[in-house]
Amino acid sequence: MTVNGLAQVIADEVDTSTPETVSIIFPDPTTADDESLVSRLTSIVNAVFSDAEKGIFLPEYQRTTDQEIKAFIQSRKLAVAYLCPSNEPIGCVFIKKLTPERGEFGMLALDPAHHGSGFGRLLVSFAEEYCRSEGCTVMQVELLVPTHCTNAFKERMQAWYKRLGYEIVKLGDFSQDYPALAPLLAGPAEYRVFDKPLA
Ligand SMILES: CC(C)(COP(=O)(O)OP(=O)(O)OC[C@H]1O[C@@H](n2cnc3c(N)ncnc32)[C@H](O)[C@@H]1OP(=O)(O)O)[C@@H](O)C(=O)NCCC(=O)NCCS
Repeated sequence: MTVNGLAQVIADEVDTSTPETVSIIFPDPTTADDESLVSRLTSIVNAVFSDAEKGIFLPEYQRTTDQEIKAFIQSRKLAVAYLCPSNEPIGCVFIKKLTPERGEFGMLALDPAHHGSGFGRLLVSFAEEYCRSEGCTVMQVELLVPTHCTNAFKERMQAWYKRLGYEIVKLGDFSQDYPALAPLLAGPAEYRVFDKPLA
């Protein structure tokens, strides 16, 4: 073993750092006036989606805007993950009741610096728990997957949703559900709808 290798082993053994945790909440609607919070969330969402959806949408497409994030906070539809103890916002998930029985989550996004931390799973659990507490028995999530090229990230997301208990229940009609976005698609894509029983 090299001297450097030995130093590395010792450093690992004495590492006393506390693992990072997050607090996930619906911020108070008045925080919609906090421009730095809104712009931070907008840039996290747009950065991770432009990466994840490369090749799916035309380059000019942006997943969200400050105005949309602000409106979602005001209507208590956006749960935010804050890093503890710094209180730095690092991710979010949009949560909506489609019907009294059916909840939906979307716009799931986490600062890339925290990917692989398990916080993505916590955001999904938060959305499910919230909808369950509101009386929902089914949770829905949608995934747009290009059919003209492979997108490894989308395939990983699909495998993850399946591990979390979601199953494809139908192929949606993207142009019917999102007529304003359909012209911004860069090519053909399959719009998969997943369900998970919440009971
Ligand atoms: C979706 C997102 C929030 C998940 O965040 P995350 O940090 O990866 O969340 P997690 O750490 O909980 O990991 C999610 C799963 O991916 C797995 N994973 C993480 N990194 C991986 C990698 N490089 N390769 C394969 N699997 C990986 C994890 O093991 C985990 O699976 P598990 O819960 O069964 O262990 C994040 O990837 C993101 O912001 N993506 C861009 C936006 C997006 O595509 N949102 C969803 C649109 S439908």
